[in-house]
Amino acid sequence: MDPILVFATSDKGGTGRSVTSCNIAYQLSLRGHDVAYVDFDFGSPTAGALFDIGHAQRGIAEGTGVHSYLLDQIGEPVRLNIARSTDRVDLRRVPAGSGKLMLFPGDEGGAEFAGCDEAMVGRGIALLSALLGEFGVVIVDLSAGRSVALEIALRVTAAEQLRDYSHRWLVFHRWTRQHVLAAGGLVHGPHGLLKTGSEWGHDRDALLGSTRCVRTAVASEQPPAAERPEQVKWLNAQAKALAALAAANGLGTPMLLGKTPIEPMLQWREQLIMDVDVTTKLANPATVDAYMRLAQKLTDKTTWDIE
Ligand SMILES: Nc1ncnc2c1ncn2[C@@H]1O[C@H](COP(=O)(O)OP(=O)(O)OP(=O)(O)O)[C@@H](O)[C@H]1O
Ligand SMILES: [Mg+2]
Repeated sequence: MDPILVFATSDKGGTGRSVTSCNIAYQLSLRGHDVAYVDFDFGSPTAGALFDIGHAQRGIAEGTGVHSYLLDQIGEPVRLNIARSTDRVDLRRVPAGSGKLMLFPGDEGGAEFAGCDEAMVGRGIALLSALLGEFGVVIVDLSAGRSVALEIALRVTAAEQLRDYSHRWLVFHRWTRQHVLAAGGLVHGPHGLLKTGSEWGHDRDALLGSTRCVRTAVASEQPPAAERPEQVKWLNAQAKALAALAAANGLGTPMLLGKTPIEPMLQWREQLIMDVDVTTKLANPATVDAYMRLAQKLTDKTTWDIE
C-alpha cells in the first residue's frame, strides 16, 4: 500500500476527534501498518494522555516537540514509541504482526500559533514527507476550527513535494444539530476546508473527494422499550431530521466514513479501547468494531472516489 496522510479535523472542540483518531491509529497498527500520530493540536497538545504516556500527558518537555520543530528551533521533534513509553501494561505487549505506533507530541506549554509563514510550511513539508517515507499511515490531529493547524495542513498538502501522496481529511462531529451545522460549515463554508484549500492551490473536487466525516458517540436510534411511545416517536423523528440536516449541509451518506457508538468507558476516560477491555466486559464490542471498520475504510482505496 502507498503511504497515506490523514488529517483529523473538527469545527468544534470535544467532538471525539482525538480519541477516535488514536483508536483508528491503534487498530491500523494491529493490522500491521506502521503508524505515526502527529499532534498538531497546537493549543492543547495532550495526545500523550490518550496513549497513557505519563511524562507526555500535556505534551513533551519544552523545546523538544512539534511546536519547537515547526519554529525551526530543533532539527527533529521527539518521537515516542507508544508500546515502550506507555504506562498501560496491556499496551506494552505488542501482538505479533503489529506495525510500529509512534507519537510525535507537541511541546508542553506550546500554544496556538498566531499565523504561519513559508518557513513553517517548509518545516511541515519536510516533517510529513520524511514520515511518509517511513510510515504507512501518518495521522495528524489538527486544532479544532479554522485554525493555523488547518492552514498549515492545507498548504503542506498543496506543495509539490507532497502532491503525489494520498491525503485524506476526516471531519469529526457529534451527531447533534449544532455539530452537524458546524461541521458542514467547516467543509463547505467561507474560510472552510474547500474554500481555503482552493485558495492554496488544491483542486476543489479532489479535496472534496478526499474528505469524509465521522459521527462520534452516536446515540442508539432504537431506544429501549415502548413503555414511553412518545419518547420513541420523538427520538425517531429527530434521527430522521438529523439525517436530512446532514444531507442539506453536504454531509449526507456519501460523505460518511463511519460512526462510533456511545462508549461508557470513553465517557469517563480518554483512552485506547483494547480487546482486553472487551474480554473483561468493560467496553462494548461494538466500539472496537466501529474503530476496526473505520481503520479498514480509511485504507481501502474503494472508499475514496478520487484515487
Ligand atoms: N464513542 C464515544 N462515546 C463516549 N464518549 C466519547 C466517545 N468518543 C469520544 N468520547 C469522549 O468525548 C470527549 C471528547 O473527545 P476528544 O477529546 O477525543 O475530542 P476532541 O474533538 O479531540 O477535543 P479537543 O478539541 O478538546 O481536542 C472525551 O471525553 C472522549 O472520551
Ligand atoms: Mg483532541
